[in-house]
Amino acid sequence: MSVADLLAEHGSPLWLANIDVVRDRYRAFAAAWRAEWPDVDIAYSHKANRLPAILRALAEKGAGHQVACEAEYCLARTVAEADGRSIVVQGPAKPPALLDRAAADGALVIVDSLAELRRVATAGVTRVGVRVCLPGVGHGTSHFGVPMSEVQMAPRHAAGLGLRIEALAVHLVSAGFDRPMAEIGRLASALVVKWPQPPERFATAARMLAGLAGRMGVPVIDVGGGFPPAPQEGMYARAVAGAIGGAGFEGRVLVEPGRALVAEAVDLACTVTAIKRLPDRRRCIVLDAGTNLLPGTLFAWTEIEAAGSEEPPGEPAVVTGPLCTNVDVLHTAAPLPPLVEGDAVVVRGVGAYQQSQSTQFGDMRPAVVCRDDGHWRLCSRRETLEDLLASDLGVDVPQAVR
Ligand SMILES: Cc1ncc(COP(=O)(O)O)c(C=O)c1O
Repeated sequence: MSVADLLAEHGSPLWLANIDVVRDRYRAFAAAWRAEWPDVDIAYSHKANRLPAILRALAEKGAGHQVACEAEYCLARTVAEADGRSIVVQGPAKPPALLDRAAADGALVIVDSLAELRRVATAGVTRVGVRVCLPGVGHGTSHFGVPMSEVQMAPRHAAGLGLRIEALAVHLVSAGFDRPMAEIGRLASALVVKWPQPPERFATAARMLAGLAGRMGVPVIDVGGGFPPAPQEGMYARAVAGAIGGAGFEGRVLVEPGRALVAEAVDLACTVTAIKRLPDRRRCIVLDAGTNLLPGTLFAWTEIEAAGSEEPPGEPAVVTGPLCTNVDVLHTAAPLPPLVEGDAVVVRGVGAYQQSQSTQFGDMRPAVVCRDDGHWRLCSRRETLEDLLASDLGVDVPQAVR
């Protein structure tokens, strides 16, 4: 089925989620890590994309779940039918209801401070890990993790609460700052996306974590996410395995891939709604989808193609979305062929941190079609006015606008 056909049937814009690609990416990722280390658990990081069809497909392949909030936790338990022990809870603010669920199900909870150990113990959590803020790895100071100066105290602290530290964790965040935070006037002016970080950086972090785990008697190291997709995953697994093996670590490795599994699996199909010349004579193409659906565009330009067109790229185009804001720009010079109003356009590889961070700033949210075993099917319908008003108390949607 062509993109134009899918748009005609399900409306525009439209998410195109290729579940076959998600399965492939998981298979390759898991095989690469298991070839390098004998004991590896993989917990998919829901925040990258929590589309139920993706969660179900990954769970069927054996993936665990890394969740950061109660909604993700509940999706893991219900949609993906996850055993609580395959869930890793990580995030800077864990509400009591999330900790209660983790305690009841035996999920692993990674704390970000020693004080949080008391909070999780009080909630009845029995499996705990500690996220470590490794010096010189990642992007400098952040609010994540326990500083190295404190982390050695964690086992004693935990023992006093009747807990044993099961895991040490790190996550090399992929978006950082290019100058110290204190010098930044506005965050966006200094944000950089450096993804993926080179394998040596992961190796350095893993080596430090393995050394600490050895000294603290911790059996699991959690190397977080930030990994690239196939075909590079093997190189990263090898670098990490070499580093931790060299540091004498013999325990379990937990990996939390997000974008590696989903980034390339989802595209956004949309429609050209206007073509115009800007005052500086540049070609401008206005689409019915913008940064409301693709907020990641604020950090990196998207890859945009004319759907089904064989024509070579013409004059570079400024591509904008439908929002009444000057930052609603998807590309400043997209290499697109000549286009007319109504043409279908596809924004490629937007499966990670786009759909999951998209907002209701703009029109109703699009439907999602999934490609499963080679066939496209509707897996989430377009939002309706009733959905928009579902949480509003006291408004009856007139029949006429349903
Ligand atoms: C703790 C943790 N693990 C894993 C991930 C997944 O990262 P990525 O999508 O870059 O693989 C994230 C994302 O922010 C995270 O916060």
